[in-house]
Amino acid sequence: MPMNVIVMPGDGIGPEVTREGVRVLTAAAEICGFDVALRHFDIGEAAFQESGDFISEEALRACDEGQAAGDTSILFGAVPSEPIGLLRERYDLYANLRPVRSYPGLSAVSPLKQEVIEGTDLLVVRELTSDVYYGRQRQGHGSGGEWASQEMYYDEHQARRIAAVAFEQARRRRKRLTFAHKTNAIGPVFSVWWKVLEPLREQYGDVEFDDFYVDNMAAQLCLRPADFDVILAPNLFGDILSDLAGGLVGSLGLLPSASLNDRGFGLYEPVSGTAPTIAGKNIANPVGSILSVAMMCEHAFGRVDARELIESAVLATIPGRATADISGPGPAVTTAELGKAVADRMREI
Ligand code: NAI
Ligand code: MG
Repeated sequence: MPMNVIVMPGDGIGPEVTREGVRVLTAAAEICGFDVALRHFDIGEAAFQESGDFISEEALRACDEGQAAGDTSILFGAVPSEPIGLLRERYDLYANLRPVRSYPGLSAVSPLKQEVIEGTDLLVVRELTSDVYYGRQRQGHGSGGEWASQEMYYDEHQARRIAAVAFEQARRRRKRLTFAHKTNAIGPVFSVWWKVLEPLREQYGDVEFDDFYVDNMAAQLCLRPADFDVILAPNLFGDILSDLAGGLVGSLGLLPSASLNDRGFGLYEPVSGTAPTIAGKNIANPVGSILSVAMMCEHAFGRVDARELIESAVLATIPGRATADISGPGPAVTTAELGKAVADRMREI
């Protein structure tokens, strides 16, 4: 039975980087011996110009059916706004996994910085379907002029299920979990989190747990990123901390992600967005998409071998063949050249 992948390249650099993700997925399937069936759908601005919809009924139907059948994943590029929130909400993709590691030998990273980030291998577990992003919005006029508010909301169920994912991931990794919060300023919301965290800490007694206020967490990440294993964060803080971590290791373009629901259905995408200023130039870094494919191989297909093969190929390739964001003063390769170099390397390993 083939693994079905719905490919949604989207806008900006989305199509360029997703093309390389697909190239590497196809190579992995060939080398590791499994079948992949791909279906492409236009989404985002391009789709809107064409049809008046950011995402077509047909694409949503394919996702609905794929989720029900349990044999389908989404490989996503990037869009400016609407459809990604819709997909996250429609499929309850609350568990956002964002691994971050350092890559030795990138010339864009100074030796001093390399020393700080060396050995970094962490996982941000970000809640993805609640928080201010989905909170109640209100607007009005008052003595201060126009006002607007958007609520930070969490209930026990939402906090518990993402915290359980984080503990579970920590147990499979180096057994350390750090919670990023802001209990001192946003007390009521975080008392909900602490209420569900206490019993989980007991249940996962083998996982070492600590916590930081999110502002200090940002500083600690800059100072000693290699000390962290799994970082649990609500939606907004996780968004910011993971981009910070991307900047730390050299480029946002290096980071992959998986967004999963309780049925194992997942959307795999680079952490970055449409990067409009570099779009269409064949210079964007495709590693975020390529490593998202690696995550898909493990989480959706159960192919740890394919995940490891892709990761080793990336690790071996990018110090020598780097796109402009990570090449520093050295020569840069194009998006397509890097994707092809990774696929070629996979055949040699
Ligand atoms: P962005 O991630 O697109 O870009 C941030 C910075 O990182 C820019 O300097 C960009 O050139 C650089 N960058 C990003 N990806 C790169 C890559 N693969 N290779 C080399 N450099 C890369 O974030 P920004 O500029 O804040 O947002 C641009 C648009 O993307 C917005 O419309 C935003 O809403 C959307 N967005 C979409 C996301 C999604 O579809 N999941 C996620 C984040 C942003
Ligand atoms: Mg973001």
